[in-house]
Amino acid sequence: MYPCSNPELVAAVSEAGGIGIVQPISLTYVHGHDFREGLRLVRRLTSKPIGMNALIEESSKTYRTRMERWIEVALEEGVRFFVTSLGNPRWVVDRVSAAGGVVYHDVTERKWGEKGRDGGVDGLVAVNDRAGGHAGGRSAKELLEELLPLGLPLVCAGGIGNEDDFARVLRMGYAGAQLGTRFIATPECRASEAYKRAIVAAGERDVVLTERLTGVPVAVIDTPSVRRLGTRAGPVARLLLRGRRTKRWMRTIYALRSLRALKRGLLRDAPERDVWQAGKSVAGIERIEPAGEIVRRFAAAWRATAAA
Ligand SMILES: Cc1cc2nc3c(=O)[nH]c(=O)nc-3n(C[C@H](O)[C@H](O)[C@H](O)COP(=O)(O)O)c2cc1C
Repeated sequence: MYPCSNPELVAAVSEAGGIGIVQPISLTYVHGHDFREGLRLVRRLTSKPIGMNALIEESSKTYRTRMERWIEVALEEGVRFFVTSLGNPRWVVDRVSAAGGVVYHDVTERKWGEKGRDGGVDGLVAVNDRAGGHAGGRSAKELLEELLPLGLPLVCAGGIGNEDDFARVLRMGYAGAQLGTRFIATPECRASEAYKRAIVAAGERDVVLTERLTGVPVAVIDTPSVRRLGTRAGPVARLLLRGRRTKRWMRTIYALRSLRALKRGLLRDAPERDVWQAGKSVAGIERIEPAGEIVRRFAAAWRATAAA
């Protein structure tokens, strides 16, 4: 999660039996680690498998070169699980599978699932309409039905706040779950106490979508800052976001702005900076608790359901 995944949180999730995912921009730009040193820090905290998120949307050549380098370093440091989002995952699959690794690809509809399958990915992360971050437009059930025929393992992302939500999606037919929001409300996450408390206090109606951060809808808690920011992109921005040639640089401008706004909103308890991403899973989150306890409680609930 940008900007919420700090090494201590990633390590705690893996140590308990999940797979903590490193987000490279978060690790370096927000939490101030050299990428390789940050990975080594996670490695000192746990010897269990960890993963890396590769946002591979085609933007600038500089970004692509940097992402290629991050993937090389991650492979050198023993990472073998990658989650790609946006873009065509083929080049990541080629590189990672040559090293014996596995790539799952984030998708919000069948069209992107087919692109992932054709790109050779090992599985799909089905991002539904309740997810934090860039939410999809379909329910967990609709996505499952759309994607199952592609014949790949499916991971459910979105709306999983407690163990009942977790057991429900596994019963539905998903092979696993990807959680974001639930892990922000943990002592290991470096987010401010105000952000964590807002997640615990929020109900699902408090989560709104805004296009004003990245140019596409992002799920955030409805706070005074978000109300000031607005939820719809302005008319000029909309036009530029639709244009074939202007789309890419408009998205880049948005991305750079949002990286800054989200970083500012993460660490300090300053009310004027409360731009906080969260999904509708807030409805099931009732307290701040250690990441390891969450993983173990969810796993126990699934074992109990499966045994029944
Ligand atoms: C604060 C936050 C930051 C996120 N950042 C990323 C990201 O950098 N890359 C990515 O692929 N997904 C990102 N996501 C999406 C998550 O990987 C996951 O799909 C989503 O959180 C699932 O929904 P949930 O928040 O209801 O658990 C982010 C989600 C949140 C809440």
